[in-house]
Amino acid sequence: MKKLVREVGPWVDKERFWDREQELADLIELLDEGANILITAPRRIGKTSLIREAGNRLENRYCCLQLDLQKSHSPADVITELSVATRPYMNLWKKTKEVFKNIISSTAANIDSLNVNDLTIKLRDGLLTNWQEKGNRMIEAIVNAETPAIIFMDEIPLVVNRLLKGSEYEITPERLKDTDTFLSWIRSITIQHKQKIRIVLTGSIGLEPILQQAGLSHTINTFTPFEIGPWDKETASGCLQALANNYDINFNKGTKEKMIDLIGSCIPHHIQMFFNYIYFDCKKRNNMNCTGKDAVNVYNTRMLSTRGHAELSTYEERLRMVLSNETLPLTLELLTEAAVTGKLTPEAAKILSRDFTLNEKKTGEALREIIGILEHDGYLVSKKQGHVFISKLVRDWWKARFGFQYIPAEKRKIAS
Ligand SMILES: Nc1ncnc2c1ncn2[C@@H]1O[C@H](COP(=O)(O)OP(=O)(O)OP(=O)(O)O)[C@@H](O)[C@H]1O
Ligand SMILES: [Mg+2]
Repeated sequence: MKKLVREVGPWVDKERFWDREQELADLIELLDEGANILITAPRRIGKTSLIREAGNRLENRYCCLQLDLQKSHSPADVITELSVATRPYMNLWKKTKEVFKNIISSTAANIDSLNVNDLTIKLRDGLLTNWQEKGNRMIEAIVNAETPAIIFMDEIPLVVNRLLKGSEYEITPERLKDTDTFLSWIRSITIQHKQKIRIVLTGSIGLEPILQQAGLSHTINTFTPFEIGPWDKETASGCLQALANNYDINFNKGTKEKMIDLIGSCIPHHIQMFFNYIYFDCKKRNNMNCTGKDAVNVYNTRMLSTRGHAELSTYEERLRMVLSNETLPLTLELLTEAAVTGKLTPEAAKILSRDFTLNEKKTGEALREIIGILEHDGYLVSKKQGHVFISKLVRDWWKARFGFQYIPAEKRKIAS
């Protein structure tokens, strides 16, 4: 009987990692062939978990450098993370220390005993001037190491987005040039050091739409796209059962199917979140039996409640990161239309966009860009009747969050 320990939110690996065997095998096969990879997948699908688990499984054949770039703003920050990531590899770490010799020799503290935060701050000081010079030396050190390396860059789209648009969300010629220089530098590594270094890029927002906005798509053309989808029903059901086995929950016949039907798309985070609420509910009721009716009740009262909002608000926050102040309000409105009426038609999109004055960009162009992002990041999918939410849970949540007093486009048409 398989058992799984729950985890709702942070990335998972090892004994908390469920399935994804096919994706892992495919990813590892590509890496063994020397590919550089761009992982694209909707939010909360398990991208970070997949690369962490891949790193675990490849650890004895490759030097796996895991970079979490969530907080990074510049190329210098990225080089700092890269340098810090070499610490577990003794020989490589020795070379890193040589690269940062000046800064280390001026430090009273023993660099090896610093915690990760202090080490990051220290090495970052050494990159105040020319990031490329130190970056090149780090790459040279990695290339000359015995084992080939895989550099996993998680959340790279956030860095690119910040570099390109700054805090004012504006692409200036200077920012464009800096972003181009940085991405071209990464690209040159993939070309020059094909057999010694593989790079894997991923993140919670799509990289391609951002690069498209800037006309920089060519900079990632050495990367093989790799898609991860939601779990299929069988895998999701297996996960729910393994969780239930671990916490002594008895799902009555048809309960798991009902849960899967309610959320619509088996996004691992949503499966885990649903189970977690079911578990709380069972304990509260003092009854470890869970029926389909109980599941519906938990879905309506907990998954869509204020608490559920906190866990799902990433869907709103990430949009705020990619979209400008001009396009964001219209985007929220388009999603609310799809959530409330069940679909977003081109006609409705046009009616809704009338209420927004979009500076410089023509409405049609802005709408295409917005829909492109919403499709790429897994919010909406194009169907015969128009664009619809992929996940029923995200749709229901969006409706609960923004639907109150919303006037659908159809009614606005009559009103105008
Ligand atoms: N293979 C897995 N097994 C079990 N749970 C998983 C798995 N993958 C993802 N999850 C669930 O999804 C949550 C988020 O995982 P992860 O951070 O890897 O997703 P992500 O795609 O990187 O998210 P984001 O889009 O925010 O970057 C985990 O806390 C866990 O609940
Ligand atoms: Mg992630």
